[in-house]
Amino acid sequence: MPAVETIEHDIVIVGTGIAGLRAAIEIKRKYGDKLDVGLLSKIHIMRSHSVSAEGGTAAVLYPEEGDSFALHAWDTIKGSDFLADQDAVWLFVKLMPEEIRLLEHWGLPWSRRPDGRIAQRPFGGHSHPRATFAADKTGFFEMQTLYNKLLEYDNWERYDEWFVTNIVVEDGAYKGLYAINMRDGKLYYFKSKAAIIAAGGGGRLYNFTTYAHTVTGDGYAMAFRAGIPIKDPEFIQFHPTGLVPSGILITEGARGEGGYLINNKGERFMLRKECAPTKGELAPRDIVSRCEMREILEGRGFVDEVSGLGYVKLDLTHLGEEKINERLPAVREIAIRYAGVDPVEEPIPVRPVAHYTMGGIHTDIYYRVLDETGRWIRGLFAAGEVAASSVHGANRLGSNSTAECLTSGRITGILAAEYALRQREAPTASPERHAREEEWVWGLLKRESGTPAYEIRRKLRNAMGEYFYVFRDGDGMKTALSIIKELRRKAREEMYVEDKSKIYNTDLQAALETLNLLDAALAAVSAGLNRTESRGAHYRLDYPKRDDENWLKHTLVLRSGEDDVRITYWPVAITTWKPVERKY
Ligand code: FUM
Repeated sequence: MPAVETIEHDIVIVGTGIAGLRAAIEIKRKYGDKLDVGLLSKIHIMRSHSVSAEGGTAAVLYPEEGDSFALHAWDTIKGSDFLADQDAVWLFVKLMPEEIRLLEHWGLPWSRRPDGRIAQRPFGGHSHPRATFAADKTGFFEMQTLYNKLLEYDNWERYDEWFVTNIVVEDGAYKGLYAINMRDGKLYYFKSKAAIIAAGGGGRLYNFTTYAHTVTGDGYAMAFRAGIPIKDPEFIQFHPTGLVPSGILITEGARGEGGYLINNKGERFMLRKECAPTKGELAPRDIVSRCEMREILEGRGFVDEVSGLGYVKLDLTHLGEEKINERLPAVREIAIRYAGVDPVEEPIPVRPVAHYTMGGIHTDIYYRVLDETGRWIRGLFAAGEVAASSVHGANRLGSNSTAECLTSGRITGILAAEYALRQREAPTASPERHAREEEWVWGLLKRESGTPAYEIRRKLRNAMGEYFYVFRDGDGMKTALSIIKELRRKAREEMYVEDKSKIYNTDLQAALETLNLLDAALAAVSAGLNRTESRGAHYRLDYPKRDDENWLKHTLVLRSGEDDVRITYWPVAITTWKPVERKY
């Protein structure tokens, strides 16, 4: 085994999507060369999944036209089915307008109103058009702008194609992390005074997902293995318009611009009284996805002959070619290329698709990572989708995610910098810990035969799609859990990495990602089975009602032994609005 070499920075950031880049910029903007920063990503910066964000970023820009922080906060909290922490939401909405203006100053080509001011479009669950957008390529332009801005600064280093395997938490403090450099195939120890985990979501728990193949729940799994609580992992968002059969995102901006959902009778089913008679297609995603699935399950949908997937249709034809080309060029291109459908001429086949994890690493409203008693794990922060502060509760509103990536990046950048400046030196993990990590990583190469990682992943994704999709129930989740536990056993005892080489061993990386997906799935399904109510995106056919008396609380899932979890709870901060029935 090669020895573990050490690399040192003042601050290390894991993940280079919008949250990670925004954090790095904030450190540099405030403290310049005083702090040196290492940015680690398992891929090239501009391939981070944030580039795929399409429809918009929420912010209150025009209070004179009737929007307000209170309205944005209320929409977010009601959308969350009252599980969001209201203090976190207030902080979020108040920080957002400046983020949009900063991006504007840094060169982002926002779409414009005819008078030249920044345009905003309607999005689901928002009672004012506040999704700020750049056509339907918002994430791409945000990433490009942030990356360009970061290039203005010195004293930071990028580690592209470095795969982080684990973080070290000892004695209530962060003590470094391990990463494989895919280019030389060696394991390194990164020592730093502070770290920001901005590793993104876990969309690849599913086959039918809007996510890139890189999104494998790495951040959640690392935290879980380090003994950090995962908050509310049962709440997984299914976006209503995944293109059939690929799952590629058809942005909610398409409905924001006036698109309709129709069933096989040509009806706009979202306007029915049991769906959302007022908001229609622009109800929050959990509601739209459930209504779509009812159409499909009750025989009012369509069936894709090749994949067998049921779907409904998204009709944009009435918008006209000019508007589609100006506002939704990527939607048109994607639909033509991947479904053979030109939305100018015919409706697009869509169904609910795994899109976002509302839960994540347990943090306070400043994104400091907490243990189960609420103590800060010194030196450790989490930002972006991997963090649960919790702004989104049980259901996130569209356009609030890239927004939270920006605010959480900014907050963690400042706080990590201030913390790092107060430390004389970075803490170190013990040599025994290095040895354990080497065994964890290289041990995977020792087996000479067994089950390949892709087979385990396929079974996991099939189980998640079947038992942990838009509708769930106790029996299904029990089945899913026993499959997950068996797959975890298989992964530990039989998983076989055929490629034994060191350089760019993507087979090894896939095996490590599979272990991460299994940890993320164990936490999510255990929490789902435990929560005997329906709230937001967690809809149980056997407990179809929200139960505030017993369940107005966050779930915290902790690892317990090799194959089990321990569940505790965390209070929801209700500072402004008491829960009421959600009607749209
Ligand atoms: O539909 C979309 O453009 C997705 C946006 C979001 O998830 O916030």
